[in-house]
Amino acid sequence: MKTTTIGLLLMAATALSATSAKAAGTLNLICSADVVICEQMKGDFEKDHDIKVNMVRLSSGETYAKIRAEARNPKTDIWWAGTGDPHMQAASDGLTQEYRSPLLDQLQDWAQKQAEGSGFKTVGVYAGALGWGYNTEIFKTKGFTEPKCWADLLNPAFKGEIQIANPNSSGTAYTALASLVQIMGEDQAFDYLKKLNANISQYTKSGSAPVKAAARGETAIGIVFMHDAVAQTAEGFPVKAVAPCEGTGYEIGSMSIVKGAKNLDNAKIWYDWALTPAVQSRMKDAKSFQLPSNKTAEIPKEAPRFEDIKLIDYDFKTYGEPAKRKELLERWDREISAKAN
Ligand code: F6P
Repeated sequence: MKTTTIGLLLMAATALSATSAKAAGTLNLICSADVVICEQMKGDFEKDHDIKVNMVRLSSGETYAKIRAEARNPKTDIWWAGTGDPHMQAASDGLTQEYRSPLLDQLQDWAQKQAEGSGFKTVGVYAGALGWGYNTEIFKTKGFTEPKCWADLLNPAFKGEIQIANPNSSGTAYTALASLVQIMGEDQAFDYLKKLNANISQYTKSGSAPVKAAARGETAIGIVFMHDAVAQTAEGFPVKAVAPCEGTGYEIGSMSIVKGAKNLDNAKIWYDWALTPAVQSRMKDAKSFQLPSNKTAEIPKEAPRFEDIKLIDYDFKTYGEPAKRKELLERWDREISAKAN
């Protein structure tokens, strides 16, 4: 009788610990990078941990809007990737929470600065410069000359041949808008965008869609992050990446924990994991060719290097402010979107 009771107790304890091991829980993740790397990250994390990841892929601006809308009852625990500006805006709005990873001092200065500038509510996970990619076969057939500068994109020969994303949904396109404003001054940038509008066939939702369209021959040019153009070349498409001659902006792709995250411990586990050199070195396997933020992560040979690109001193503080975002996007809606072809 005694043995049976002990046996039963043991069995119950084993069953309980099995359930709790399984129930290490879940993590609700929004991933704002390309879907292929998002799937790879989810799969690798689930292999390394006993945590089930519910992942949604959304563009950076869409994620910012979703997190704002859900502020009272957050459904997301962690937001990985996407351009840094909306992560900074979310931090400034108090939508994300402070976390200092023990891996912080392993990171590049630009990634640490992103953390410091947000009160440690976000951190840099990768970086990449803005430019465009064009379809070399279309260029050959149509006799186009390579656009080397922002100014060249206004060439009337490119009428209906260029795509870029909508800066409301896409962090890439917001980076483009903010970069042009910093390069030219605000009024001149909007004049430029009005002229460019004559050559744009479509404002897409996601930032990398324009160069995927160029790769498939649906458009000649896609204004995107250069690493997204290079990814299409690596896939075997006739795409050439260009760094604009006047200079260009760049992103510090970021990561933030949502304030009120229901699975906070798991969010921290993901956060520290995503900053490790092993995880960042594997991004290239998904043809994600950004510059990793961990100093010891492997830099993919395909990654466009900052040393080779004329970069502006992008003002992450100003363009990461919610009021600046609102002002620029309202003007874009009024002056560009409303007049779109
Ligand atoms: O495709 C990868 C990527 O360009 C990232 O480097 C970037 O952070 C993200 O996509 C931006 O996507 P979107 O413009 O759709 O917000």
